[in-house]
Amino acid sequence: QLQSRIDEESHGDNLIATLPTREGWSTPLTLFKKCWLRPQVLKNCLPVQDKFMPRSEDIILATHPKCGTTWNPHKVVTIIEAQFLSERGGDLDYIESLPSPRLLATHLPLSLLPSGVCKAGCRIVYLCREPKDAFTSMWHFENKAFNMFCEGCSSFGPFWDHYLQYWKENLARPQEVLFLKYEEIMLDPLKAVRKIAKFLDFPFTEEEESRGVDKELVRFCSFEVLSNLDANKTGGVERPGNMFIEHSSLFRKGEVGDWVNHMSKEMGEKLDMLIEEKFKGSGLQF
Ligand code: A3P
Repeated sequence: QLQSRIDEESHGDNLIATLPTREGWSTPLTLFKKCWLRPQVLKNCLPVQDKFMPRSEDIILATHPKCGTTWNPHKVVTIIEAQFLSERGGDLDYIESLPSPRLLATHLPLSLLPSGVCKAGCRIVYLCREPKDAFTSMWHFENKAFNMFCEGCSSFGPFWDHYLQYWKENLARPQEVLFLKYEEIMLDPLKAVRKIAKFLDFPFTEEEESRGVDKELVRFCSFEVLSNLDANKTGGVERPGNMFIEHSSLFRKGEVGDWVNHMSKEMGEKLDMLIEEKFKGSGLQF
């Protein structure tokens, strides 16, 4: 097993050495199958396609970075690609050992997940966000690589391919793929929570609604409550490539339209034109 890990590692290193790489964000990004990834993340993603065994009962929460992943606290939901960290080989057994229905999360575009995810009919809940706000959030989290973001070169980007792959899958299989926008959750969180529960075949009962269980869930998941929990104010999570992410850095402002406070009018217009061009004809709008 160790030997196969070592072989995988060197295969990953050799492959990465041949791929286009760009500097500009806090770490370099490598282009793999039309998706920009940190090299360490890419190394951990390589085995996902062969080794991750989707089950039809799986529920996969997929997000583009900075679109609200933290609504599912990182330590509570197992992140698929993080199970394949090369330094933690044994965790593959962990993901296999989880009882069904497994609740899993991922930042990977649909094209980098095994095709079995769609064939097995896994339930996917996808969350994206108005791209100017997603960039503003990323900008604070990483750095100010606006042009690279517009060129599609950002972590797990291009953002338009990420959004469109899940969007098209949602159009093709609406019973199995739910497509959500950050703005829609912020506008009416109660409606969104009821919609997700119904989609997952666990709708709130009348009795639960009359007891206010759904409203309590919304209150508990609000930015104010989550960002003030001790568990979110302290500590952090490890990410591939010796990255340590402070929990508190995942809660910045949590507002819709904050981009106007950070981008010039010209930058906003440039990104709007790109959004229009990339999503034209798809039915997806922001
Ligand atoms: P801002 O930087 O705009 O504040 P991710 O979790 O995918 O990394 O996304 C982080 C973004 O989601 C941050 O946006 C963060 O503030 C926001 N966020 C985290 N928890 C939230 C919550 N409970 N309600 C609303 N926004 C939240």
